[in-house]
Parts: sequence; C-alpha cells; structure tokens
Amino acid sequence: MEINTLNDFNPVLSAKKEQTLQFQFNQYLLKKIENGSLPPGTKLPPSRLIALDLGISRNTVTHVFDQLKAEGYLTSKKGSGIFINPALPMITERLLKGAWAAKTQLPGLSTYGKNLKEASLESSHLIIDKKNLPFTPGVPDHRAFPEKIWTRIQRRHTDRNALKGYDNSQGYLPLRKALTDYLRLSRGVICNEDQIIITQGAQQAITLCALLLLDQKDVVLMENPGYTNARHAFLTKQAELQPLEISTNGINVESLPDRTNAKLMYTTPTHQYPLGGILSASQRLKLLDWAATHNVWIIEDDYDSEFHFHGKPLASIQGMAKRTPVIYIGSFSKTLYPALRIGYMVVPKELTGTFTEAKTHLSGESPLLPQAIVADFISEGHFIRHLRKMRLLYQEKWDHMQFLVKQNLASLATPIAESAGMHLALRIDTKSDVHLQTAFAKLGFGSTALSSYYFEPPVEKGLVLGFACTHYQERESGIVALRKLILNKNL
Ligand SMILES: Cc1ncc(COP(=O)(O)O)c(C=O)c1O
Repeated sequence: MEINTLNDFNPVLSAKKEQTLQFQFNQYLLKKIENGSLPPGTKLPPSRLIALDLGISRNTVTHVFDQLKAEGYLTSKKGSGIFINPALPMITERLLKGAWAAKTQLPGLSTYGKNLKEASLESSHLIIDKKNLPFTPGVPDHRAFPEKIWTRIQRRHTDRNALKGYDNSQGYLPLRKALTDYLRLSRGVICNEDQIIITQGAQQAITLCALLLLDQKDVVLMENPGYTNARHAFLTKQAELQPLEISTNGINVESLPDRTNAKLMYTTPTHQYPLGGILSASQRLKLLDWAATHNVWIIEDDYDSEFHFHGKPLASIQGMAKRTPVIYIGSFSKTLYPALRIGYMVVPKELTGTFTEAKTHLSGESPLLPQAIVADFISEGHFIRHLRKMRLLYQEKWDHMQFLVKQNLASLATPIAESAGMHLALRIDTKSDVHLQTAFAKLGFGSTALSSYYFEPPVEKGLVLGFACTHYQERESGIVALRKLILNKNL
C-alpha cells in the first residue's frame, strides 16, 4: 500500500495545543499504525510533502520518522522512501481496544500478595503522611548530625573508582572491620568481620532471617506488644506468629513454655520495643538456656541500645556464651539517620555464605560510598563522640518529656517504662488511640497508637511518642495539644 494523496494523510495538528507539534504528529502516526489504518509495508509520502501540507517544518517530520524508526515502527529503504515496518505484527483495533483492554482482571497475586493487598486496603483510611513529623517514633535529631565531618569524609571518597564498581554483597570490608571492634567493645558481641553482613537497614536483616530460617507455618514467638515491621517480615513466609508476654523488664522469661515447637523468637532485650523494658543479665542467661535447650533461634534486635542514659547498656545476648543460637541485628537508622539505610547482622560463622547469597538474590550489594563513609566515621572515633553527644541531648529531651507529662497529663496518661531511648510510651484512657493518633497528626505531630503494636485484641491503648526529633517548643506545644485531645470526650 502506498499513500499518494495528502488527503489520505491529514492529521489535525495545532501549535496551540499543550503538546509540541512533534509529539502530536508522532502520536497521530502511532495511532494510525496501531489501529491498522497504516498496515505494515505501507509507503509514506516524502517528508517534504508532509511538511508542506501540514504547515510544519521538515525537521519536525524527519525527527518523528527517526524516532519511530529507532522504535521499530518505520523502516527506510535507500532511494525508495519510508515504510511502515513490514515485520511489525498486525496490531488491530480489536486487539488493542477490545480483547486486551476489556480484560479488567490482572493475573493473580501470591497468597502473601493477596493478604498484603487486603491489609493495605483496610488501613488505607489511616494513611496520613506522618513520616518525620515531630514525635514520630524512631526519627533521630537531624539538627545535631555532624554534617561537616561527614562531608569531609565523603569528599575523600567521592572520586574513588574502587567505590563505583561491584563489591561483595556481604558488605564493604573496612566497614565490617570497624563494626567488629565497635560491637565487641560497646555491645559485647563476639564475632569477627567474616560473620558480619551489611544490610539495607535492620529491616532487611529481619527479612533475611525470615527467608532463611522459616518454612511455611513455622511457629515464631513475638514480643506482644512488639515491632510491627518484624511481624510483617515473618508473615512473608506465612509463619504462625505466637505472642510472648511482656513484663516491665521485657520478655517474661518465666512464662516461656516447657515444651515448644517454635523455630524462632524475635526480641528487643536491651530496650523492649515499644514499652522500654530492659531484660536483666540473669533473665538473658535463662532465655539463652531455654533457646539452646529447645533449639530455637533468637533474633536479637539491638535497634537503639546506644541510648541508655544511666550507665552502659547490658551486653548483648549474642556474646553471653562462645556459641549461641543468636542472630544479632543492629542499625545506623537511630545512631546516624534512617535514610542512610545501613544496618548489619552478625550470624554464626557457618551461615555467612548462605546469608550473603540470599542477600545477593534479594538486593545485591549495599551502596559502597555510604559504607566507606561510615567505616571511616567509626574508625576515626567520630561515631563514639557523636553517640556521647546524642546521649546527653536525648537525656535532656527525656527529662523535659517527663516534666511535661507530669505537668500536663498527670491524671490523663501514664508513662509505661522509666527507661531510656528515643521514645516514650504513654498509656492513655481513650476510646480509640488510632483516632487519637490521627487527630494528633492533623495538628502536625507524629506518633503511633500503642494498640497497633499488639496482637489482636490489644491489651493497652495509648501513644508512642518519639521525642528524639523534637525541639523544645515542639515538645511544649505537642504535649499541651495532646492534653486537649485527650480531654475531648469523642476521642
Ligand atoms: C524495633 C526496631 N527495630 C529496627 C528498627 C530499624 O529499622 P531500619 O534499620 O530498617 O530503619 C526500628 C526502627 O524504627 C525499630 O523500631
């Protein structure tokens, strides 16, 4: 087929439309090809004639031809002109607009995907962009970040070609070395650099545990209340989650069953999340003994142990004996900043290869430049100095929070633990702590409903307030606003 007359070829182009003439002409041609009015093999008029007829420049026409040639819609034969690619399959109007477009149902999801879709629909009414608002749990004080030192180290590494290629998924060796020393001295973790795997935050480390330690329907013991995102990670493997009772000092070890078929236990012994209890050394030993006896993995999430204000935090469970069934997890999300997305895990020697391989499949390597910066930041002593500074700063904020809560919420809210960290859990007598959280967010303050950390039905209601990212006035106005909301009988 050959188009000779310009009548056959008469798109309505207008310089007044928002799209460029080039775009309009491109779309017009594509439509004609796709609906079959310009079938494969059709010869198009010369670009000069099209340009004349449409009142557009010849350049515009040839640009469109070049683009469609590159995309495989058009071909040119030397001396013969431009053709609709004869190899182009016939894409008819019926196929495009009919069969495919009428197919409203997409191919199916996995069971996990279906569950997740349902859960996200259920919670869609709760979605308020509360990330990083004052009082959002887990967000550090970015204003106190040592920007100058960080930038100086960063400058030193930006031009290094060695940091631009591929590396080992296990993580940048100097960072693993620096972490080995830090974890041994500060957290009593027994390991060498070969046992450390750098992950994309603690979350990826938890997901790797779910992938490699669990089979469908395996029993996982979870602190109740506990870290919701860990719960979700274990659900990816369709594990059966069982709640673990929490007392003022974390897991109630005495209540652990004499017989269990559990495969794994997830715990935050150094600062129970979110209530704040600290598991004593004797209870840690008992827990370890129980896990070793029953062949249960302990996932020890040490997410914010750096921020204990009174003395050194208790040493990790991982390091309490030479060989423990413990996978130790940590993160720079609280100590440096969450967007860095660097966490780490310490695994038994013989599993390093397996975890590294799984990480390769899941995400590949972690970005090298940030790892190199953190490595120097630790090994040059800046990390320890930064932690010391932040500990003092957070302690001041903690004291201020205690004062404000006493002054404004004395009969309305009760702080649950007298311990440290970056957040404070308040027990509040309210109709719905989820509605309270929503109302607080509408006033510009982040928080998380205490009930959301519990298995159903929740045992307590209240709010978890992340005070680390707040400044003085925000704490004052936030707590006063919270008082008004709690007094509002509808919440
Ligand atoms: C209990 C717990 N574990 C781990 C993390 C850190 O996760 P990530 O390192 O993925 O930011 C958090 C963050 O809020 C947490 O609350």
